[in-house]
Amino acid sequence: MDTRPIGIFDSGLGGLTAVGALVKAAPWESFVYLGDTANAPYGDRTPAELAALSGHNIRFLLSRNVKAILVACNTSTSNAMDAMVRQARGTPVLGVISAAAAEAASGTKTGRIAVLATAATVRSGAYERAIRALLPEAEVTAVACPRLVPLIEGGHADPSDPALLAAVEAYAAPVRQAGADTVILGCTHYPIVRAAIESALAPGTALVDSGAASVGTLLAELSARDALGDKKSAGARQFFCSARREDLARHGAAFLGWQMERVDQIDIGRF
Ligand code: DGL
Repeated sequence: MDTRPIGIFDSGLGGLTAVGALVKAAPWESFVYLGDTANAPYGDRTPAELAALSGHNIRFLLSRNVKAILVACNTSTSNAMDAMVRQARGTPVLGVISAAAAEAASGTKTGRIAVLATAATVRSGAYERAIRALLPEAEVTAVACPRLVPLIEGGHADPSDPALLAAVEAYAAPVRQAGADTVILGCTHYPIVRAAIESALAPGTALVDSGAASVGTLLAELSARDALGDKKSAGARQFFCSARREDLARHGAAFLGWQMERVDQIDIGRF
């Protein structure tokens, strides 16, 4: 047993989709969540910038004595995984891409899989590689969705929001055209607007939530290391961000359906 917290980070609200799944699956686990809101969005940054920003986040989480780190950000996972593993100095670091790719590869019936993701994740080609490693004949359609994260961080997450619906329609059109039966929400922000995305896709399209998929892998990894927390106790929840504390609390509570007790603001550049 290891009762230390799990560290989880994202550029902002997106990683809360993994938090929601973790709280449901393993309410006994303590965690420290960091939204690097001062530097969001990450979606159009270069691999070098992403390695530097992710390094600050890893060092902050290590300073909170975490037992493992879930990188609840596809953009960091796809562009900076090797750097993060080095910086974590032996603390396990898990990303979100392999679990989501595995769920899609095992679920698709037609082999036609679409990935909605940030521009940097699409540019990295990480999803194509992960999917083809499992299903070589897969036809993968990757669509960059640069308008979604700024809309979600700006509070435009209501499924009837006109700006959100217009953006979603533009990104869903190539997915419909490709005839994908499975769509990976390859950015942890996107499940927050799942209803809007679903309404723009062909009926019956299966959606894969990358944050939720990775929580299963994380818990399996902790179990294999005999490092799960104390199942008889309620886990402690700590939330940090690097700017716009009120936004994280307000928009986060709307998505999670429960309030964060408090959100502390940190100077991420110090770590
Ligand atoms: N939620 C993140 C991801 O999964 C980052 C999005 C962004 O900041 O652009 O890619």
